[in-house]
Amino acid sequence: PGLSWWGSAARLVVGGLRPGLSWWGSAARSWWSHVEMGPPDPILGVTEAFKRDSNPKKMNLGVGAYRDDNGKPYVLSSVRKAEALMTSKNLDKEYLPIGGLADFTKASAQLALGDGSDVIQGGRYITVQTISGTGSLRVGGSFLQRFYKHSCDVYLPKPSWGNHTPIFRDAGLQLKGYRYYDPKTCGFDFAGALDDISKIPEQSIILFHACAHNPTGVDPKPEQWKELAELVKSRRLFPFFDMAYQGFASGDTDRDAWAVRYFIQQGLNLVVSQSYAKNMGLYGERVGAFTVVCSDADEAKRVESQLKILIRPMYSNPPINGARIAASILNQPDLRSEWLQEVKGMANRIISMREQLVSNLKKEGSIHSWQHISDQIGMFCFTGLRPEQVERLIKEFSIYMTKDGRISVAGVTSGNVGYLAHAIHQVTK
Ligand SMILES: Cc1ncc(COP(=O)(O)O)c(C=O)c1O
Repeated sequence: PGLSWWGSAARLVVGGLRPGLSWWGSAARSWWSHVEMGPPDPILGVTEAFKRDSNPKKMNLGVGAYRDDNGKPYVLSSVRKAEALMTSKNLDKEYLPIGGLADFTKASAQLALGDGSDVIQGGRYITVQTISGTGSLRVGGSFLQRFYKHSCDVYLPKPSWGNHTPIFRDAGLQLKGYRYYDPKTCGFDFAGALDDISKIPEQSIILFHACAHNPTGVDPKPEQWKELAELVKSRRLFPFFDMAYQGFASGDTDRDAWAVRYFIQQGLNLVVSQSYAKNMGLYGERVGAFTVVCSDADEAKRVESQLKILIRPMYSNPPINGARIAASILNQPDLRSEWLQEVKGMANRIISMREQLVSNLKKEGSIHSWQHISDQIGMFCFTGLRPEQVERLIKEFSIYMTKDGRISVAGVTSGNVGYLAHAIHQVTK
């Protein structure tokens, strides 16, 4: 009793074979025997090693998520209030449309392009809700792969966020690069960037980080952005802006979107990816947006129809919860102003940690210039530490970071900045 026909038949077959080599077992094994073990994700690998370490002073500076001054994950009060409001409304859980929550996408476009944007007033854009910034980049990559007729080459800054390459590669585009970071100054290689970009074949796609460049923390200054825009225009390149940290760099969402808006003012019809992971702390909610600035409203309608055709078989429609949270925050004046204060608070804490790290390094007696730590901006700092120095920080001090010497400044607190400075001095003196 209780044994189905399939159950007993399987048992009979299994019983007649050597243990461990059942028909089912060997068939299941044989489908994937050619699949090789892939390398672990470099950043998640850092977290794994950190978790195994029992040193009470250990620090995880690998992962790019904001921590408060006690080193704890931070849920914004504006987010908590938006959630409470949603709960009180007893909302249903129906599917969103393919392009997402309209209250969210409109507000997201306004946040990116600015309140008085004539692109928005003229309706010559389309914004779709995406699965955070990564999903936005992927939808963007697939859209360009399908519809951008002029090139399939995307030029990334060297270096760029590690996920850019596989995102665009998996979308069927070819990856190229342009000089961006100068290891000698730990700053922007402006001359190198201009030189490389001036040689990019016309009409290629070029990716820029709108602000808080990851992993270097190095952003062009407004005057440099102006020259870059000029060059992009003269080479007829197609600009793709990744804006994963709006508000996180300077604490001011308008200031951080300056480059995107300037490019548009120069007549460049670009695309932009947004993420609300960092600036609203909605990491796991996966809230993002992808915007295409078009030449007129009719073009925007046609692009919208094709974005929907692209998204429908990928994931059908985006998740509703985080978009509702972001929409309430963006659309309700009281929540919005509270949020803007909180973004400023996060950015300021990071800026202050940069300054404290530099002053602690001086106190330790370091003779190196650490000016770049406070010059760089956003969540990450490219310290300039060499791989062997990083190795020592991990082994001798339990301070974890990626091999390239990138630290997430969001993981530094008033409680551990002294220890970090001491350790860095020990491995660099
Ligand atoms: C440059 C950059 N783009 C996009 C993202 C996307 O992140 P998410 O998919 O969590 O929004 C990140 C996150 O680290 C990033 O650093």
